[in-house]
Formats: sequence, C-alpha cells, structure tokens
Amino acid sequence: MSFDQDLWKNALIESYRAIENLTGVFLVTQGKGRKPNIMTIGWIQGGIIWGRPIISVLVRPSRFSFIHIEENPSFTVCVPTDSMKREINWCGSVSGATVDKFKSTAFTPVYSENFSVPTIQECPIHFECNIVQKTKVIETNFIPEIIHEYYSSGDFHSIYYGEIVKVKL
Ligand SMILES: Cc1cc2nc3c(=O)[nH]c(=O)nc-3n(C[C@H](O)[C@H](O)[C@H](O)COP(=O)(O)O)c2cc1C
Repeated sequence: MSFDQDLWKNALIESYRAIENLTGVFLVTQGKGRKPNIMTIGWIQGGIIWGRPIISVLVRPSRFSFIHIEENPSFTVCVPTDSMKREINWCGSVSGATVDKFKSTAFTPVYSENFSVPTIQECPIHFECNIVQKTKVIETNFIPEIIHEYYSSGDFHSIYYGEIVKVKL
C-alpha cells in the first residue's frame, strides 16, 4: 500500500458520516469514449480485503453508471460537503443517459495522472479505485424479506470491489 493507513481510514469514516448526515456520496464513472458521469450512492463498504484497502459499491443494472463501470473497471468516490444536499438528491434521481451531470451541477472534473476517471474538484475528499473483483447478488441466495423489500422489480445489484489506489484531500 503506497499511502498512509490513517489517511484512508479517516477518509472512509468521513464518507460514512456523509452517508449518515447527507444520505449519500458521489460515485464517478467514465466508460470508454464517454463523458464522466456522477451518481449518488448510499450503499458502500470499506475495509481491508485480500490484503488491500477496498471500497465496494452496489450498482443496479438500470443505472447509466452501470454501463460506464462495466466498460472501464475504475471508479472514484467523492465525499460531498454539507452544502451539496441539492446535488446529492439531483444526481440520485436523474440519469446521465439524458443529461451531462458535470455540466448541470457546474462541478469540475479533475483527472489525476494515469487515472482514467475524474474526481469532483468541489468535494473535499476523494478515493480513486481500480476494480479487483465484481459479482452480482444472486436472487436465490437472499432471504425472502430482502427480495420483497428491494428487488420486487428485479434489477439485482452488481457489487464492485475497488482497490483504493489513491486518496486525495
Ligand atoms: C441517497 C441516494 C442513495 C442512492 N444509492 C444508490 C446505490 O447505492 N446504488 C444504486 O444503484 N443506486 C443508488 N441510488 C439511485 C441512483 O443514484 C439514481 O438511480 C441515479 O439517478 C442513477 O444515475 P445514472 O443513471 O446516471 O447512473 C441512490 C439515490 C439516492 C438519492
């Protein structure tokens, strides 16, 4: 691991705080030859898996972000400020298939050297992640209550495990 343990752990704690206080954080993806897209996510987990610092995100196939993340196995997670409630709601209700969310929010995409997905300049904390495993939740492996509550129309999440390769503050 090329960065400080406390750095990514504290950054992860901030992202959990944002989910608790603001309902979500931003997931940025960019498919091959496409513009970057922003989606609000509430379901993330973080920790050490396979000896690596990992953030996992759950994305339903109906999301435009799903196409991006399938085409390019990298993503960034950007932690919003308290003043971004409007953008969190908006990026969590509008599809990037019909609108350029960077343009509409006036957020600025910033690219690190050698990383194909941007972060959002206006956010204070960013994770750059490369996917090391992806899987799909399996209908028959759920208890019925969860199917009933979350998957009445199908649209079963894929889970993407991203190794955190950089934390930007
Ligand atoms: C607070 C909040 C949290 C969300 N969390 C998730 C999530 O973890 N996974 C998911 O697939 N959709 C989640 N969504 C829904 C997507 O953000 C929403 O469908 C969005 O419009 C998808 O954008 P896209 O089509 O540009 O990818 C969430 C929405 C909100 C408002």
